[in-house]
Amino acid sequence: MESSPPHPDRAEGDRGPKAGLGRKRIEGGRAVFDVTLLKPLGLTPKNFPNRPGVGIAKIKEGGNTEFWNKKVLLEDVPGMFVLEGDEVVGVNDTICEGKDLETVSKLVKESPGDTVTLKLVRNYLTGPVKIVWKPSLKMGTYKRGALLRACEETLGANVRYSCEDGWCSSCWHAEDNYMTVYRICKMDVPEKWDNVMPFVLLSALEVKNTKGALNRTSWGRREETRLGLGAFGR
Ligand code: FES
Repeated sequence: MESSPPHPDRAEGDRGPKAGLGRKRIEGGRAVFDVTLLKPLGLTPKNFPNRPGVGIAKIKEGGNTEFWNKKVLLEDVPGMFVLEGDEVVGVNDTICEGKDLETVSKLVKESPGDTVTLKLVRNYLTGPVKIVWKPSLKMGTYKRGALLRACEETLGANVRYSCEDGWCSSCWHAEDNYMTVYRICKMDVPEKWDNVMPFVLLSALEVKNTKGALNRTSWGRREETRLGLGAFGR
């Protein structure tokens, strides 16, 4: 989205801590945080079907929320990204937890200026997970337990599969935060993932390019041994 205006709070190229910082944990596995978005927001809010309150049902492609998410997720701009399923509990300084769509929409529409600050709550141990693939930089939101291969194929992140029974390791990826190895063809989105963080998967080549010579670290040697690899990138 080259044509999108820069975010008002962030200088172009501004770098900072990874997404996931800046949120506050509250009881019941919930995280609360603020996100300031340019208007129009480019998202679809809906009433929750089984309880009071309004959630983020959809993030529109090419909209300002997606633009903000890309800044946070791909460029490490400080702040939190927006995830489908987040609950809107505040608009600017007005708390609207448990209110209906009409009330929340009115608050957004009537807010002054070019931006709106949403206070969002995320169920970080049960909600969906934002997956980012590198180096393709494709991203999407998926349920816990979904097969990673199915997620990848809907996005077209160019993972290479060379077997049908999980022996070849050509689909090898490493999760960026914990450097845990995933075979995309066989493994699922982790059930216990803390979704205040994106689930970032690096291809073997990406690991080599961005983490340096990992195959000379103890982690690299251990994983190579475990996977029976002669070298990364097979
Ligand atoms: S494609 Fe062979 S292990 Fe995944």
